[in-house]
Amino acid sequence: MRVRLKGDAICTLFLLVALCSLLYSQLEHLVPIGNKEPTQKKPSVTPKILSDPRAPWRLMPAEATVPRPQVTPIVRRTEVANNRVQTTTPSPLTDSAFNFKRYLLDKDNRNFNLLINQPKKCRKTPGGPFLLIAIKSVVEDFDRREIVRKTWGREGLVNGEQIQRVFLLGTPKNRTVLATWETLIHQESQTYRDILLWDFMDTFFNLTLKEIHFLNWAAEFCHNVKFIFKGDADVFVNVENIVDFLERHDPTEDLFVGDIIYNARPIRVRKSKYYIPETMYGLSIYPAYAGGGGFLLSSRTMRKLSRACREVELFPIDDVFLGMCLQRINLKPILHEGFKTFGIVKPSAAPHLQTFDPCFYKDLMVVHSLKVAEIWLMWNLLHSPHLSCTQKKQVKKPFQWKKKAQITQATPLR
Ligand SMILES: *[C@@H]1O[C@H](CO)[C@@H](O)[C@H](O)[C@H]1NC(C)=O
Ligand SMILES: *[C@@H]1O[C@H](CO)[C@@H](O)[C@H](O)[C@H]1NC(C)=O
Repeated sequence: MRVRLKGDAICTLFLLVALCSLLYSQLEHLVPIGNKEPTQKKPSVTPKILSDPRAPWRLMPAEATVPRPQVTPIVRRTEVANNRVQTTTPSPLTDSAFNFKRYLLDKDNRNFNLLINQPKKCRKTPGGPFLLIAIKSVVEDFDRREIVRKTWGREGLVNGEQIQRVFLLGTPKNRTVLATWETLIHQESQTYRDILLWDFMDTFFNLTLKEIHFLNWAAEFCHNVKFIFKGDADVFVNVENIVDFLERHDPTEDLFVGDIIYNARPIRVRKSKYYIPETMYGLSIYPAYAGGGGFLLSSRTMRKLSRACREVELFPIDDVFLGMCLQRINLKPILHEGFKTFGIVKPSAAPHLQTFDPCFYKDLMVVHSLKVAEIWLMWNLLHSPHLSCTQKKQVKKPFQWKKKAQITQATPLR
């Protein structure tokens, strides 16, 4: 009897130990699996992000070697907060959440057809245009394209130099939002001859495809251009300043200029919308890359980059991807103070911009995140014959916005 009881006890004990070790091994397994599968609960890319894709990376420029504006981007803060809310209550857009596994599987699928071309874009002027303005847009943003066409993106002469323009588009992700999109784009293309449309889905994580396809297009159809400005549609660009700057450079030399971000770190927080797992990028620091808004490059650099990017594996963040291409050709991007693609987050948060002081914009090249009406107003004020900025102080370098609390006290920034 006693022996049997003892036997039972041992048996139970044995089973318990086995069960525990089984559970433990399961637990250990769960961690790496979870690492590879971060996507399901991730919030989606909202349309806001599409038009302003680079912004959140700016929260990360850790240990910048170059003094970067110490800004707390107010708008983005709230975005981050919203994301947190979204993780608990899935948004209706969750279907667009980023799937890393799928991305890695699809990575070799990187050649898509050009549905609308402008083959004569760079043949109009003998010797090629001086500057090609290439603007990332999405089909739905017709009003943004219109305002850019009417303001800083005008084709024609600036300081005697020929400017041409193209918009870079993919096919809309949700075609029911704009049922007439194909008709619209074809009509726009016929009217303005500035539409490039590729047959890939126009999503935030496909912007890298846009980058590659544009560079290939430029190398094939615009090889005679001298310089290229590539940027977003929600920026204000002082083309006169850019032309002035570029006239002092040689298009047959390498040149890559913008708001360069150094030593940015990949976001390893799985809940972040911008999470990049180590399986996708193993190093702790990204190569130097140009932040959102826009950057300039010479004809020579464009051709070199178009070749180099073909050899770089796709990476879901287009800015960083281009940084990788630059690293491959061993070209150091140049930081220029005129590219204010980070500091100016929300014009209403800054007294300068609230009054639309055009003199503030006079010394800049690119300012990020402006509304359609703000771009129109700024361009018109800047081109007013009554504009006189001699009385005004110039913007000091390095330029810095104050933190939110200070801004609300309307501290004059000079
Ligand atoms: C596309 O947009 C429409 C209208 O906003 C919406 O009803 C529909 O669910 C969306 N479809 C997808 C696949 O997101
Ligand atoms: C990129 O576009 C391709 C082709 O339309 C599509 O299959 C893919 O899902 C898109 N990828 C992302 C991450 O949106």
